[in-house]
Amino acid sequence: MNSDLVTVQAPAKINLQLSVGPVRTDGFHDLVTVFHAIDLCDTITVRDNENISGAEFGITVTGEGARFVPEDASNLAVKAAALLAQHHGITRTATIEIDKRIPVAGGMAGGSADAAGVLIACDRLWELHTPMTVLEQLAAQLGSDIPFSLHGGTAIGTGRGEVLSPVIATGEFHWVIALMDGGLSTPKVYAECDRLRAENVQAENQPSVSEPLLMALRQGDPELLARSLTNDLQPAAISLMPKLGRVIDTGLELGALAGIVSGSGPTCVFLAKDKDASIGLAAELAGSGVCRTVRTASGPVQGPR
Ligand code: C5P
Repeated sequence: MNSDLVTVQAPAKINLQLSVGPVRTDGFHDLVTVFHAIDLCDTITVRDNENISGAEFGITVTGEGARFVPEDASNLAVKAAALLAQHHGITRTATIEIDKRIPVAGGMAGGSADAAGVLIACDRLWELHTPMTVLEQLAAQLGSDIPFSLHGGTAIGTGRGEVLSPVIATGEFHWVIALMDGGLSTPKVYAECDRLRAENVQAENQPSVSEPLLMALRQGDPELLARSLTNDLQPAAISLMPKLGRVIDTGLELGALAGIVSGSGPTCVFLAKDKDASIGLAAELAGSGVCRTVRTASGPVQGPR
């Protein structure tokens, strides 16, 4: 292996359940969510800057939505690499290349995937052998979804999403992903969720994990899973981008078992019966013209490797 260069594939996530509780004093919302990593991946390459004296972290971004991603120290992937170096008290820097397939500001944790991928890749590049528990702590400092993005698979997230517990899941699920023009800001979607709840004088119960959803995962049954997919942020995402309602209706009319907004949106995801059904649905959804472009993906997949 050439130790001056490490490449990882970092997967996107969707939320099979996203239950949003009350807003906390720190501005975050208590969540109960079921994360699920799918094989829609960004490719991340890190190169050591060891031989370039005084070099700072560098980053270049290509691919899906690259023009919307900052190529400077404000990029979460750069922050992740710098935090890892700082944790170990080393002065190493790296040049990061990200080739994106995960939509930017799409509700699929693309930025979190990149940060998690960089933690794993730089840990290997610099031969730090950081324990997973420590990587998790660094990940949680960087963002709520990043601990899950380190692990992948399927897992329950509580707290602000960063406290993970395992889920027993069997089989493989097949998804069709509708990518939209433009993104949605996660804080704005949470704020819209709060606004809609205040307007409807809706009581916010402390959420709990859906038992039917856990059973569907244990059984690997897409029909059961379809009946259990929920996203409390969906009304807020549709309120901010009304055409998402039409996207979901179209996917369902075309035979999807279920369709939901992914995380804070605007990407929408549809569950298909099997791989063939997902390919057929993707072709028809692309032909319908309701979204910018369509992908197929399956899950669960493991985190950055
Ligand atoms: O943790 P992360 O930086 O990804 O969160 C982005 C924003 O999403 C937060 O600043 C907050 O506005 C919102 N958020 C929230 N409750 C959560 C997670 C995120 O309100 N549990």
